[in-house]
Amino acid sequence: MSPHAAASTNATVSAVRPAAAQAVDLSKVYGSGETQVVALDAVSVEFGRGRFTAIMGPSGSGKSTLMHCMAGLDSLSSGSARIGETELSTLSDKQLTKLRRDKVGFIFQAFNLLPTLTAYENITLPMDIAGRTPDRQWLEQVVGTVGLAGRLKHRPSELSGGQQQRVAVARALASRPEIIFADEPTGNLDSRSGAEVLGFLRESVRELGQTVVMVTHDPVAASYADRVVFLADGRIVDELHEPTADRVLDRMRRFDTAVRTS
Ligand SMILES: Nc1ncnc2c1ncn2[C@@H]1O[C@H](COP(=O)(O)OP(=O)(O)OP(=O)(O)O)[C@@H](O)[C@H]1O
Ligand SMILES: [Mg+2]
Repeated sequence: MSPHAAASTNATVSAVRPAAAQAVDLSKVYGSGETQVVALDAVSVEFGRGRFTAIMGPSGSGKSTLMHCMAGLDSLSSGSARIGETELSTLSDKQLTKLRRDKVGFIFQAFNLLPTLTAYENITLPMDIAGRTPDRQWLEQVVGTVGLAGRLKHRPSELSGGQQQRVAVARALASRPEIIFADEPTGNLDSRSGAEVLGFLRESVRELGQTVVMVTHDPVAASYADRVVFLADGRIVDELHEPTADRVLDRMRRFDTAVRTS
């Protein structure tokens, strides 16, 4: 166990239960020869169950790649990625699809809504595909909190960008997956809707034990998390526990200075 994990308040929990997701020496290389890009360079990280982790780092540092690899949406070049105790590289395509459908929620940088379906149908689509009946009460709570109650019959083209993102958030939460990966879920929202979505994600972690991993560029958004992991050039370079926006900002400034003077 890392010294960070030992120092965290959840140390006893993570000692007895496997992490919700874990990467060990995960590398991802795109292309070959002169065009080769090392997007992830031997990353090892654990995302504890029932915790809210933010991932930060400059554009191109590998944040989306890390989430895609850990969510089983992209293959690894080397190393390992696990959801719970399941090693992703041992799964067939069919098993991987099932795991993603049953255990993982994903909120993409682009919303990925189906244009021909209404907001409600988009939210329940993953469960419809899996043949599961949505929990009505939970669904109402999700829809109410993301402020979509009056918009459920609209198609994505009839919704604002912020509303579309809220549909995507509701879709990820609706089936109560074991882990939610969110790639800049508030990047397209005004600050009020953004705060609502972040508050909701945090509440789902605190009250319901949901596990959330969220990429963000925004120190205020990161301050909703229990922990911030910083990536640079495909490596984890630092982490903060119980972050405040000021401490995150301070840490980001120090990286900028380090990059400029190196
Ligand atoms: N499909 C791909 N083919 C080739 N290179 C890729 C591919 N996807 C990502 N990359 C490269 O891998 C690196 C990491 O990309 P990634 O999308 O993970 O960055 P990021 O940290 O999410 O950036 P941003 O904050 O801009 O979203 C970048 O240099 C990017 O150009
Ligand atoms: Mg990205």
